Amino acid sequence: MEKIIDESIQGQPLALEQNKENERKLFIESYGCQMNFSDSEIVASILSKEGFNTTQNLEDADLVLVNTCSIREKAEQTVRKRLEKYNAVKRINPKMKVGVLGCMAERLKSKFLEEEKIVDLVVGPDAYKDLPNLIEEVDAGRNAVNVILSKEETYGDISPVRLQSNGVSAFVSITRGCDNMCTFCVVPFTRGRERSRDPQSILEEIEDLANKNFKEITLLGQNVDSYLWYGGGLKKDFEKASDFQKATAVNFSKLLDMVAEKHPKIRLRFTTSNPQDMTLDVINVMARHKNICKYIHLPIQSGSDRILKAMNRLHTRQEYFDLIDNIKRIIPECAISQDIITGFPTETEEDHKDTLSLMEYVKYEYGFMFAYSERPGTLAERKLEDDVPEETKKRRLNEIIIAQRNHSEYRHQAFVGQTVEILIEKESKKSDQHWSGRTTQNTVAVFPKGDYKIGDFVMVHINECTSATLLGDAVGYSDNN
Ligand code: 5AD
Ligand code: SF4
Repeated sequence: MEKIIDESIQGQPLALEQNKENERKLFIESYGCQMNFSDSEIVASILSKEGFNTTQNLEDADLVLVNTCSIREKAEQTVRKRLEKYNAVKRINPKMKVGVLGCMAERLKSKFLEEEKIVDLVVGPDAYKDLPNLIEEVDAGRNAVNVILSKEETYGDISPVRLQSNGVSAFVSITRGCDNMCTFCVVPFTRGRERSRDPQSILEEIEDLANKNFKEITLLGQNVDSYLWYGGGLKKDFEKASDFQKATAVNFSKLLDMVAEKHPKIRLRFTTSNPQDMTLDVINVMARHKNICKYIHLPIQSGSDRILKAMNRLHTRQEYFDLIDNIKRIIPECAISQDIITGFPTETEEDHKDTLSLMEYVKYEYGFMFAYSERPGTLAERKLEDDVPEETKKRRLNEIIIAQRNHSEYRHQAFVGQTVEILIEKESKKSDQHWSGRTTQNTVAVFPKGDYKIGDFVMVHINECTSATLLGDAVGYSDNN
């Protein structure tokens, strides 16, 4: 599962490039995971050819699209609230059309039209290429729905319109869907079967970003380590592939190696890794290339073997420790972050303590922690009672957050006194006199601006830290500029 930009709004994104001939205005916002943010860039690209430019003002929009998340109930509630806001605007501008994209569209399908009268258009994650036809329907005064999931669609042939980008970092999606079937997770139902994108089209997209001077690329997928290209087709059918297809297949470590080799000045990241799919080959490729960031997001969900099994996470606590030990042996400076769920059905105090002790062992750089939220249609919802009381889920969540804060501070302290390479991404939120950027380990660092600019690789001496941020002073350019 990829990392969630939790329940946040993208703000009012504006495309970096607008088509002067376009007359209609699109307001698009995204919730949930990075894949949604990346998909919105594909949607903006498809609609740019249909006469739409993006706008930052909801009030000006001819078409409002919201790219939605279903991962937890709260994420869905946030979207419903936004629909109320659109409704208020639609009262002033009745010609405005409203469309729902993404996981909620896929989960609720045409039910959306009954539940939310304001919605004109419902489009699932694999149906964006049908948007021109669907919009024609809506223009003709009819509601339109397409939620067909695909076994092939990767949007590899669409060149995304970069939305509200800093011009420094970009996402490139490499796989779609997920076959893992973790019992708590709605994603396999909303995003369908796992499929990989043609490496050629990935390389072309990255080449284009390199030519536009982008400095950091994150390869995206629900489960990147499971990437496998053998000429198209589902991963589960690989066994049936021809000898030639097998011999020329590209897996994730090969893809990573190819991209890193071709673009030595670009920082490469990837997310998300699943412990059971991550191979030593990937870790060795990371170690070989300076430009692959020394950071792995490696969700664990629970430290208890019993709960891991009930979650259908296909590894044990010990196997996870072995993987962590291997990562730290091969790349000692590698940062690791987690996703953890508290209060999964039947979780006892003992299980919770196992999670805390696992955290103590790994001492993650940071993490994304959630109370279990039962999702309709998942195996957990069908087979297990949501039996951990809300207060217990919250209390355990709190304990885990406190442990994580301590571990983050412990990890960040180790940077104090060191000089590290930072890629400048933006102005610090707290001060217009400071830049904000990240280390290779993905830790945020803030320092006085000097003469440096966004997109520069700078060496920064770290003077102090909090549990979230490193504070320092730039001492010169890094040799990566
Ligand atoms: N309840 C709570 N958290 C969930 N996640 C996925 N499904 C649920 C759920 N039903 C979390 C997992 C996953 C992250 C993206 O969201 O930790 O890794
Ligand atoms: Fe991630 Fe598991 Fe959900 Fe797949 S099923 S997206 S691996 S949490």
